Parts: sequence; C-alpha cells; structure tokens
Amino acid sequence: MSGERFRSLTSWFFSRRVLTVLAAWVVLSGLGTWRHHKRWIEYNASDSWTVVDSMLHVLVLPGWVAAKVTGGHYNAVYSLHWAIIVNTIGFGMIGAGYLVASGVSRRLSAWLQEITCTQSESVDVDRRSLLRAAPELALVAGGGGLVYTTLIEPAWIHVRRHDVPIAGLPSEFDGLRVLQITDTHRGPRVTASFIAEAVRLGLAQEPDLAVLTGDYVHQGAKFIEESAALMAPLARAVPTVGVLGNHDWYAGSRRVRGALSAHGVWMVDNDRCFMQTRNTLSHDAGGLCIAGVGDLLEDDVEPSAAFAGVGRDVPRLLLSHNPDVAEMRELRDHRVDLMLSGHTHGGQVSLPLIGAPGVPSRYGQKYSKGLVDGPSCRVHISTGVGMSVAPFRFGVPPEINVLTLVKA
Ligand SMILES: [Fe+2]
Repeated sequence: MSGERFRSLTSWFFSRRVLTVLAAWVVLSGLGTWRHHKRWIEYNASDSWTVVDSMLHVLVLPGWVAAKVTGGHYNAVYSLHWAIIVNTIGFGMIGAGYLVASGVSRRLSAWLQEITCTQSESVDVDRRSLLRAAPELALVAGGGGLVYTTLIEPAWIHVRRHDVPIAGLPSEFDGLRVLQITDTHRGPRVTASFIAEAVRLGLAQEPDLAVLTGDYVHQGAKFIEESAALMAPLARAVPTVGVLGNHDWYAGSRRVRGALSAHGVWMVDNDRCFMQTRNTLSHDAGGLCIAGVGDLLEDDVEPSAAFAGVGRDVPRLLLSHNPDVAEMRELRDHRVDLMLSGHTHGGQVSLPLIGAPGVPSRYGQKYSKGLVDGPSCRVHISTGVGMSVAPFRFGVPPEINVLTLVKA
C-alpha cells in the first residue's frame, strides 16, 4: 500500500463520521445484548422498556432470522452467545451500510458536480447537497418507520363492527352484540396495561356476550395467571366464553384453561354452552349455542364433540382459534352459523396492492382477517390485540370486534 493511500485510509478511519459510527456500533450492540438478555433470557424486563426492546429487536431482526436458520435450533433467541453475535453483527451491518451509502453519495455528488458544471451554480449546489444528505435522510426515514411500526400502530387499537344475519335466530337474540377479543399474547412483547385498555374499550361497547379466541399468553408460564386475570373484568360484566390457542398450549394448556376458568371464563374447547337469556350461560341445550373446538396445531379438533346433543334448529357460534378449521371436511356435517377465529393477526404486515405477505394459514390470504365465506359457514377473523413472533405491525392495527347478530 502506498504511503499516500495509507494516509488517506487513516484519515478516513479517524474522521468524525467513522468514529461516530464505531461508537454507535459499540453502544447499540451492548444495549441490544443487555436488553435482549433482560427480556428473553432473564425473562424479567419491565413493561416500560417494551417498546425500546422491540425497536432494538427489529433493528437486528435479519440476524435473528439467520441465527434461527443457521443455529440449528429454533431457540437461538434464548441464548446469550447468539444475542451477542446477532447484535454485534446486526448493528455492525447497519453502520457499515451507512458508511458505504455515505461514500457512494459523496462520489455521486462529485460526479454530478463535473457533469453539471455548465448549469447554474445554485441548482448544482442544491442537487449535490441533497445527494450528500441522502444517507442521513434514509436514517431519518428508517427511524420514522421504526417508530410507526413498533410504537404507534401496535398501540392504535380499533373497534371493528359487523352485522351478521343468522337464519332462525330467536327474536330474543336479534341484535345481540358479541364482543370478540383475541390473541392478547400477554408476555415480553405486549404489556398488561395495553390488554387492560382493550378490555375496557370492549366493555364500553356494551356487549351482551364476550368470546375469547385464544393466545392469551406468549412464551412461558410466567404470564399465565396475569393473562387470565386481565379477562376477569370482562367475565364479571358479561357472559364470557373462550377457547385456547396454540401459544396457550406452548405455555401450558391445563394451567391456562384453569386460570381462565377461575376468573369466570367458560372454556369450550371441543365443548359447548348455551345462552338461554341475554345474561346467562347454561349447560341446558336451547337458545343460542356457543361451541368451541381445540386448536388446530396443538389439540384435537372435534366438531362432533363440540356439537354433541345440539338440535339442528339451535343457532350456533363456533369458536376456533385457527380459521383453517373452516376448510375441514368434518365441519361440513354440522350447522355453523358463524365461526369466530384469530391466530393470523392479519399477517401483522399488509402492504398496498400486495396485501399480507406472511399469513400463518394454509390458505394464503383467504383467512387473514375480516368476514370470510368458508365452504360451510361464515368465518370472522380478528387481527387480534397483541403481537406474536414479530414485534411490529404495519397496515394491520390491533382490533377488538363487535359482531351484531341479526335475524335473517
Ligand atoms: Fe396469536
């Protein structure tokens, strides 16, 4: 290496820009590792850090995906050495990307200066300034996107309403307001105060019946009792019926079911109850049947058990955490007036024109969200309250739902 080249490299390395990036890399890698350790390994992070931790996680998310793929095990996220590797490489890549973009924009600016030397000086200066600032503008835009997807949209809860006509609905239940709350995912990503707010908002809709379609808890048993207690105000105020989701099974299905039952939620996995009047639930057949099936991924799905002994003329709601159940042949042997599901979170990201690129369903975007016609019944899929694997939402804000049953 020539002396001049070495001097130029040295002066670049010790420039304020490069030293700032190096300092930021060290600080952010340390911060990211520490926060990851607190939240996912010690499993003891405060709710007040939830959004910061989500942001740090998103910034190095490609690293976590790579760790899970190349690490040979799904649980790389719970390992300290993977946390160090992913955060160091992840923030290093962001810093390196910024420095490369910075160098490219400076060269392009110099090139623009050469080819536009015949144009007016002011236009030339404006263009070159914009070009040189492009990497910083990209950082600001990326930061804005990060704040929107991790802080603003996940907290922007919506109330979505639908009227659902049901043939043969007894006059007593005409106009019955069914509140659906699903996928609250109490755990490292979703705070108790946010779920409590969703429940408060739900009660403000003055429902006659509340249905909970699973995934109350996320990752581990620590949050089981709290996730169930958060539903208690609902169960105290209105008849409340629920089924389990796949994440409840991961945490411990018996404990989740027991905790919810203890707080007044009538659990109907492969079972049913009936609403004889607007205010009460009962074992006695008649009125409106509210049945449920087990989770498609972790439990048995048994429509015959769910509807055992229910007369064909009795209108039925079916709770199924996973909407793919709508496509099962076994379901076609039974009358279902409305199936209520969650699980998909609407894909959590929905892009204009494309829609949701990743929906956890065998049927693509068909059951991602909203009211959908299945082969044998209508299905309502709520995008849910919380978040699952990915700590962000874009174009799919959290929601609770009010479905008004009307006599067809
Ligand atoms: Fe979920």
